[in-house]
Amino acid sequence: MHIIRRRAWEVTERQVTPEHVVLNRRSLLAGATAMTILPSVFARADVPVTDFKPGRPVTEEKYATTYNNYYEFNDTKTVWRDAQALKQRPWTIRLDGMLKQPRTVGIDDLLKQVSLEERIYRHRCVEAWAMTVPWTGFPLAQLLKLAEPLGSAKYVVFETAQDKVMSGLDAPFYPWPYVEGVTIDEASNDLAFISTGMYGKPLPPQNGGPIRVTLPWKYGFKSAKAIVKITFTDKRPSTFWESLGPSEYGFWANVNPAISHPRWSQASERLLGSDERVPTQIFNGYGEQVAALYADRKNEKLFM
Ligand code: MTE
Repeated sequence: MHIIRRRAWEVTERQVTPEHVVLNRRSLLAGATAMTILPSVFARADVPVTDFKPGRPVTEEKYATTYNNYYEFNDTKTVWRDAQALKQRPWTIRLDGMLKQPRTVGIDDLLKQVSLEERIYRHRCVEAWAMTVPWTGFPLAQLLKLAEPLGSAKYVVFETAQDKVMSGLDAPFYPWPYVEGVTIDEASNDLAFISTGMYGKPLPPQNGGPIRVTLPWKYGFKSAKAIVKITFTDKRPSTFWESLGPSEYGFWANVNPAISHPRWSQASERLLGSDERVPTQIFNGYGEQVAALYADRKNEKLFM
């Protein structure tokens, strides 16, 4: 039997979803036959209430899916139009480096080996805008378990797609491919998530479809989209934004309102949709779950 146990930080959909979104999703479900991920997602809508709340409404889907960052295509916020050209199937992910057996796995085979769930997370971009999104996917810890990294591996590195439809790859000054990484400890944290859907639908290309990582306590650039390779290593990776601007975008990139970006304050954030400005919280409000990860790293630049 498949038992869903909610953790302290989880919320039910009812607590945060505007009513019209729920209604839209019900009618979507009624007509859904082709989208195989849906039943397991919607089964979770009525699970018990828990005590951790995002404290803000879910962002309307139309805002979360039409205001994006995706530099492989271009640097405009309307990149969603161009991103539609990225084919979502077939899609494989290479697992390599320090693990028991390097291999390539097809996304649909991978999805058969994990338990999908829905999580409503806040997302905070380093540019000081924010959204709250119901992601569908599975804990990154499940992927670690399947990949079987060696005990000597210390980091998980995500490399993302470079496809001929991505015209931004021609820009000479970017250190392609887009690479991001976290420590094995961070990847094993309960909050670290692999997203393959949002708003109860397959993840759209502009939001990282068909597969991205979601790390809600870190600035959004750590959440790499369109993953094609996951490498286990004992060396801290040189990541895309850190190599572009180490004084502006660090490896750790944990959200902290008290530490300004060199060119702007991080004290508050603008909510997509309402444009309301709200105070930013340390670790994006997830400190209870993740602060302990950094207890022995006080000398590192953890917040930029
Ligand atoms: N992943 C790739 N491959 N390319 C990118 O340009 N941008 C990052 C991150 N992941 C980016 C990426 C940044 S800066 C942010 S804020 C988030 O994706 C934005 O995610 P969203 O478009 O789903 O809101």
